[in-house]
Amino acid sequence: MTPQPTRGDKFSFGLWTIGWQARDMFGEATRAVLDPVEAVERLTDLGAYGITFHDDDLVPATSTPAQRQQIIDRFKQALADTGLSVPMMTTNLFSDPVFKDGGFTSNDRSVRRYALRKVMRNMDLAAEVGAEIYVFWGGREGSEVDFAKDIHAALDRYREGLDLLAQYAIDSGYRLKFAIEPKPNEPRGDILLPTIGHALAFIGSLEHAEMVGINPEVGHEQMAGLNYTHGIAQALWAGKLFHIDLNGQKGPRFDQDLVFGHGDLLQAFSTVDLLENGAPDGGPAYLGCRHFDYKPLRTEDVDGVWESARANMELYLMLRERSQAFRADPEVQQALADAGVTELRLPTLDAGESYPELLADRSAFEDYDLQPGRTRGYGFARVQRLAVQHLLGAR
Ligand code: GCO
Ligand code: MN
Ligand code: MN
Repeated sequence: MTPQPTRGDKFSFGLWTIGWQARDMFGEATRAVLDPVEAVERLTDLGAYGITFHDDDLVPATSTPAQRQQIIDRFKQALADTGLSVPMMTTNLFSDPVFKDGGFTSNDRSVRRYALRKVMRNMDLAAEVGAEIYVFWGGREGSEVDFAKDIHAALDRYREGLDLLAQYAIDSGYRLKFAIEPKPNEPRGDILLPTIGHALAFIGSLEHAEMVGINPEVGHEQMAGLNYTHGIAQALWAGKLFHIDLNGQKGPRFDQDLVFGHGDLLQAFSTVDLLENGAPDGGPAYLGCRHFDYKPLRTEDVDGVWESARANMELYLMLRERSQAFRADPEVQQALADAGVTELRLPTLDAGESYPELLADRSAFEDYDLQPGRTRGYGFARVQRLAVQHLLGAR
């Protein structure tokens, strides 16, 4: 019997994920449109906590104001009937051809003004439905031609846009926090704020930096050849892990958006371990939604869509169980201690010590015997072996 998700697990799904019609670069849609109300009902049945969406996922861009209101009212009724939440919302600033050179950083100033208005309208809805996180994924903010984009100016405009929107949220009394989602490329040849590190550095320059964090996606870091677990660990260290997009990716190639863990399973294990057991007291290091941003395989019909939705949550829960068993295993605890993992928590200098005392400590340098440090084994191989044994349920 595999573990069953419950609301308390805080799993959420983008409407654009389960609702993806599987239209790709090379072929037409293989699935029909998913009614957002059906999505709410099915996710509820499967044990999810929340549903997230871009403005245009719920309300087709061609809708009149009256149609828009009708769609929103019907959706809100479904939320009320099921108790499903909308923890996060975001804006589509990439599908309409007007955004071909970006939203906040388009070379065309009128497009930038339109983009800001589009976000503000959707922030009003986000506040109305009780969303707490507002995501900014700048898929079209970037370039293919280095000479065609003044990056200094583009970052100024990105900052100008986010500063304005933060002020709008504050003045409107909205309890929204912003989360920037990095991605290295696709759809642009090169996207601005391509990695967790770039985004964190950028946030430091914002006027309301305290209300802005990040929404890192597994596949996006791995597309850049980076370690996702390390990336979110640094985001946690900076107090900036406001949201996460979990999915799967097989190394640096196009954005695959596989089911969580269906790419680098071993790294998915360390990711779940960090999220669930990474606080100083050994409890969860991250309390927000476990949000899946994946694409059900194009080969699947609607049953396959729900099968894959289930697979995301089930895999997460199985990894959570395994991670807890791993942490509770006395042999693992011993192996971690032997490997010096706990020793790294000790400050390098004693309390009250500073560089004069370090300079005076002959045992630290002049009399330091390099041999033990040169020849010791760290025992990381044992840690990894035990981790894989736990991952595969062999212990
Ligand atoms: C992608 C992104 C998007 C964003 C979404 C919400 O690569 O397409 O991951 O799915 O997550 O736009 O911000
Ligand atoms: Mn993606
Ligand atoms: Mn994403």
